[in-house]
Amino acid sequence: MKGNIDELIKGLSLKEKASLLSGGDVWQTEAVARLDIPSIFLVDGPHGVRYVADRHHADPAQKATCFPTAVNLAASWDLDLIKKVAAALAEESKARGVDVLLGPGINMKRSPLGGRNFEYFSEDPFLSAELAIAFIKKVQNKGIGTSLKHYAANNQEHKRFSIDAQIDERPLREVYLAAFEKVVKKANPWTIMAAYNQINGDFATENEYLLQDILRDEWGYDNLIVSDWWAIHDRVKALKAGLDLEMPGADPVNDQKIVDAVEAGELSQEIVDESAARVLDLILKAQETEKNTELPAEEHHQLAKEIAGDTIILLKNQGDLLPLTEAKIAEKESLLVVGELAQEVRYQGIGSSQVNPTRLDNHYQALEDKFAEELAVHYTPGYSSEAEAEENENLREKALREAENKDYVIIYAGLPDKVEAEGYDRKDMQLPQEQNQLIKELAKVNPNIIVVLNNGAPVDIRQWLDNVSAVIEAGLPGQAGALALAEIITGEVNPSAKLAESYPLKLEDNPSYLDFPGSNGTVRYGEGIYIGYRYYDKKKMDVLFPFGFGLSYTEFAYRALEVPDYLAEGEKLKLKVLIENTGQFTGKEVVQLYISQSSPALERPPKELKGFAKIELEPGEKEWLELELDYQDLAYYHPDAGWIVEEDQYKIMIGASSRDIKFTEEIQVESSFKLKDLTPKSPFEDWLADPLGKKAVEEVLSQEEIEEIGFFKAWPIYRLHFFAAEQVSLEDIEDILDIYQDL
Ligand code: GLC
Repeated sequence: MKGNIDELIKGLSLKEKASLLSGGDVWQTEAVARLDIPSIFLVDGPHGVRYVADRHHADPAQKATCFPTAVNLAASWDLDLIKKVAAALAEESKARGVDVLLGPGINMKRSPLGGRNFEYFSEDPFLSAELAIAFIKKVQNKGIGTSLKHYAANNQEHKRFSIDAQIDERPLREVYLAAFEKVVKKANPWTIMAAYNQINGDFATENEYLLQDILRDEWGYDNLIVSDWWAIHDRVKALKAGLDLEMPGADPVNDQKIVDAVEAGELSQEIVDESAARVLDLILKAQETEKNTELPAEEHHQLAKEIAGDTIILLKNQGDLLPLTEAKIAEKESLLVVGELAQEVRYQGIGSSQVNPTRLDNHYQALEDKFAEELAVHYTPGYSSEAEAEENENLREKALREAENKDYVIIYAGLPDKVEAEGYDRKDMQLPQEQNQLIKELAKVNPNIIVVLNNGAPVDIRQWLDNVSAVIEAGLPGQAGALALAEIITGEVNPSAKLAESYPLKLEDNPSYLDFPGSNGTVRYGEGIYIGYRYYDKKKMDVLFPFGFGLSYTEFAYRALEVPDYLAEGEKLKLKVLIENTGQFTGKEVVQLYISQSSPALERPPKELKGFAKIELEPGEKEWLELELDYQDLAYYHPDAGWIVEEDQYKIMIGASSRDIKFTEEIQVESSFKLKDLTPKSPFEDWLADPLGKKAVEEVLSQEEIEEIGFFKAWPIYRLHFFAAEQVSLEDIEDILDIYQDL
């Protein structure tokens, strides 16, 4: 395709332009052979290339590397790791002839029940944004496009094609759009994918407020907006709202509707030209990158293993049972591997993100290879997700007998595909009962129980947590996860990942519990801004494992914090933390930075994540770790004023998790912004409490007159002349209002 876009637009007929605005088939845009305009491929997904030739997904996708899923990548808290995965995915996209990779997914984890939580990063918008920015910039500077998804508030699978997410403006902006906004402004994704659901009564694909007013006009996004697959309802309304490309395509009906609407004067030619230009711009960008290169399968499998090792979380390690080092097992003889999931490995979620892996390692085999000489490794299924209770009882009995005389027992537990996936949410946080039963009983016959979990979202493990020695949260770690886990179990890799989604004690504690997944076609985000740890902290609730939590085989001491006590407007706060590895193993530590504002005009969560960094230290090594806090990250969203940073005292908290704060320092933040949210209906006492309000009042009323108003200060200011006629006239009130407006 040659020539510039304006020339091409001039040369295209209306019908040809309309054809560009929907796909040529399930994964491609439409070509226009007459003008040498090629089609390009948009293909899933966030953790691997799922190139499916046939539209009905009938034939398996071409093989590609299945990297750890988003839940794992987020748990690494490591932007360099994200860039490595992104670079490899870009390379595999080229190899498979893919022009736009449909990811990353950054929807917030509003409930642990969300069926696609495995495919999203976190309950925190700051962490999600940082990870997505790193991912998108790396993929795109390799010449492959991305698709930031699913815009917006696609936080559940239940009735996902129709549900109306009803969200107040502040939580919408400050929680559910916040990561999208930051990523758009800092990474400028080649495409953004509009979600299936409705937001406040309008489908995402035709939601003018979200697509035009916010995304395009306010945030300045001018790249292409693509629908989620089959998510278009009214094509002309969607086009007017700013949705450029309907996928998939090969649906002449909607193309014709565009032509008819222009010819009937119901749709401007400019809008069609603008969207067609964005499609051409995408095609042009895509064309610059050479495709159909080699896919380095073995190299990427090794990379997938390295990556997975830094995404697996150690939740419990009583008595330092782990790692099973050579020294520790020198006098030991046997290890029992238990669990169907040790053989039928669960390493990714099913649905559109599902990859056909180049290879798939098996936990049992990986451990057998690992311990070949030192330990006799036995296997027993222990449970079956397909069997009836009686069969499961037999499997359990067998496992118990085998466990009695073994030195170690490692049980692989987790969620089967049939309970968490794209398309459906979970009903509860429980593991399959046959697994719980087995773990409880194994713990009675053997003191050295290690539980490995494979799940995309939190599970309730209280039934047996106190009775086992170690718990490893392996998430869905990709095709090489078993090898990575084996290296963690032996100590070759020291776990360094931390939770990016809180583990509540029980589902009922979760802030979305009263309204998830909604009813009668709507789901009300009644918890407002209080998602995840922001809620548990506000309510001072215990959790099973807090946001940002993860153990290591070594220990880290937080020796000192150096932070300025003042931040000028628009500046970066540069601080540093002295961290020491006081244990026996080399390890990596994720240091987290949270803020808390002392007296905001609108209430804020007790703490909000606004920075993090990861550092590797040898035993005994001590290093200063630098962290930065962007001024704008101190902001919160005020419905009347937008994002604001208020002049105030802020706490800077440095923690090893959201619940393990090591240092807290107060800083004074300067801001020229003055919130003017007082109205004639605001109580007089609010006017006196507000710096600008007070100033306006004192320019009109004397201190004595103000005092004499006394009890009536609780009334709206515009009524004061009614209650305190001697002190306040109607003219006085009008003067105060005028002065305030001019401040
Ligand atoms: C799916 C998903 C989306 C995916 C698309 C193409 O339904 O919602 O994430 O990229 O369709 O498979």
